[in-house]
Amino acid sequence: MRKYFLIATALVTLNACSTASNYNPLDDYQQLTPATNLPTPVALSNGNFTVEQVERGQYLVGLLGCGSCHTNGALTGTPNRQQLLAGSDTGIAWSNPLVDRNPGIVYPANLTPDIETGIGSWSKQDIIRMIQTGMSKHGGQTLAVMPWPSYANIHADDITAIAAYLKSLSPVRHQVPAEVMRGQKAVAPFIHFGVYQSKL
Ligand code: HEC
Repeated sequence: MRKYFLIATALVTLNACSTASNYNPLDDYQQLTPATNLPTPVALSNGNFTVEQVERGQYLVGLLGCGSCHTNGALTGTPNRQQLLAGSDTGIAWSNPLVDRNPGIVYPANLTPDIETGIGSWSKQDIIRMIQTGMSKHGGQTLAVMPWPSYANIHADDITAIAAYLKSLSPVRHQVPAEVMRGQKAVAPFIHFGVYQSKL
């Protein structure tokens, strides 16, 4: 009988203790449980948007679970409520740590309007384009680890409301770790999503 597993496991780097010949990746890690159902931070009033847009954006950001990735500590089960939507120090591996000893990792960005550490310099259009197409303000194509393909068909009014809400948040200063290239050793923890099936 086939067995199917959906594994969404938070992994924390420990001291490497195995050698290449008897490598068992799980020897290097301990398991943590992600937190879900986070509150969305209250928005400030912002003259550029209507109250209805901002409230709808807050509702949608809660519904779509943006904070589960973009809140520090949420992926490791200890969400920091002073840093809601202000980015995560826990990254998401985009290559498989069971195959690559040192996978490539991206860190969910700070979505509050802090100029230096968040998206304070992004226009409404920059935010909309990023969520719908994965194209960053800086021109790069974001990996689908940020699930923009799922957001591509969000209705224009809804995506505008999400951008309005994000632009109306209080800025929170929080610098997320830099992207880790494949083959580089991560110093911050990361999560890996994988679907596995036992071999016949
Ligand atoms: C599964 C986790 C996950 C979810 C859910 C998620 N994101 Fe992201 N997001 C990411 C990651 C990881 C990045 C960073 C990608 C990178 O650096 O290449 C990112 C980047 C972004 C960026 C670009 C910011 C920047 O400074 O580069 C925006 C804007 C964004 N996300 C908005 C959202 C919104 C709005 C939602 C909910 C509708 C959402 N994200 C849901 C993981 C997620």
